[in-house]
Amino acid sequence: MKIGVIGTGYVGLVSGTCFSDFGNRVICCDIDEGKIERLKQYDIPIYEPGLEPLVRKNVERGNLSFTTDIPQVVRESDIIFIAVGTPMSPTGEADLSYVKSAAAMIADHLESYKVIVVKSTVPVGTGRMVQRMIQERIGNKEISFDVVSNPEFLREGSAVYDCMNMERAIIGSTGDQAASIIKELHAPFETRVLVTDLESAEMIKYAANAFLAAKISFINSIANLCERFGADVTDVSEGMGLDSRISGKFLQAGIGYGGSCFPKDTEALRHMSRSVDYDFSMLDAVIDTNAAQRMTVVRKAQDVLGNLSGKTIAVLGLTFKPNTDDLRYAPSLDVIPVLVSQGAAVRAFDPVALAEARKILGQESISYYDDLYLALDGADACMILTEWDEVLHMDLTRVQKLMSEPVVIDGRNCFPLDLMRAKGFRYASVGRPE
Ligand code: UGA
Repeated sequence: MKIGVIGTGYVGLVSGTCFSDFGNRVICCDIDEGKIERLKQYDIPIYEPGLEPLVRKNVERGNLSFTTDIPQVVRESDIIFIAVGTPMSPTGEADLSYVKSAAAMIADHLESYKVIVVKSTVPVGTGRMVQRMIQERIGNKEISFDVVSNPEFLREGSAVYDCMNMERAIIGSTGDQAASIIKELHAPFETRVLVTDLESAEMIKYAANAFLAAKISFINSIANLCERFGADVTDVSEGMGLDSRISGKFLQAGIGYGGSCFPKDTEALRHMSRSVDYDFSMLDAVIDTNAAQRMTVVRKAQDVLGNLSGKTIAVLGLTFKPNTDDLRYAPSLDVIPVLVSQGAAVRAFDPVALAEARKILGQESISYYDDLYLALDGADACMILTEWDEVLHMDLTRVQKLMSEPVVIDGRNCFPLDLMRAKGFRYASVGRPE
């Protein structure tokens, strides 16, 4: 099939590349000329394991190309994906300006039947709005088109795997013809397909992300209770997860969720609820619990070290999770300024996100390290915020000797309690006894 993808962010680039790998001819386009030039040189603008070789393979096979020429993409494609960003606006609402401008450009160059697929995460009702917008713009011209909502469920850091091994494809469509075209496009993925109306498909994306976020906030609340009752949340999660109705996935307690999706999508869903006067108090609790959870590591550091003023704290991991360079809504961006405001000197370690972190957090009382052992040398405490492999596999005997005080505040439950005790650490983790 001939496919055009507008927007070369995570979703557009990964899904476009995966479609091309199944023999479709895919043109990915973006208004950012610098990004397109880099992509033409196989220089992938995001850190995503496995993506570069797949892009290279499919460009060399002639299945994948990059351009800034949107009219060409519209003319030469049968299916056009809109995969542009929908960032959070100051009110919490999803900002649809990129979606609207993509829809306008498609409308202005439409000459024959196309399936227009919205892959961006958009508020319920957006697909219908895109349909109306395009119809109004093409006026009386005798051209037909359909709008489909086909949300994406990939995770950063395992995006290629998630796309290639998708558990389901959701296809919300304004017409049967379009639904069967998009269904056929998904045939090589050998996945379950659910065809719905536009609104339901859009809602599925928000409901799924909000539900996963709720699981995380729920287990974090249970973890806080475990700390007070002397229980161990890792055992509690495991025991709960043995019930297949619950499933153990997304039941890892920690410092809460971050990233470009859960915070943005839960806020957008809250905004949607308010817009129809629905009091979604459960969602409020999910969001508030997550915000409070981030600060639990600061409280634990105070419990162990007392006043943080003059203390040196090595913060390990800045990204919102491992295997990504994404700092959006990362807990580190909330935690580090609080440590600094309390007079601590922070030594920040991250294997990939230092340059970006320096831009956001600045240099005052913060130094940056790409060597974890240098960051820990002489530190009064180590605070783990991201479970990078470098952290999970650090040499604990060496770390214990390097640190001025062997104190580890672990926001990600990286190590067994008995191991940390045996190595001589004072170890405060999440929802587990000290
Ligand atoms: C999430 C969803 O998992 C994807 O299905 C979805 O497609 C994507 O959002 C999106 O909407 O685009 P992602 O944000 O990449 O993917 O990351 P996750 O792996 O889901 O992790 C999100 C956050 O939750 C991370 O900060 C992670 O540390 C935290 N988390 C996750 C926990 O604290 N505990 C868990 O048990 C699982």
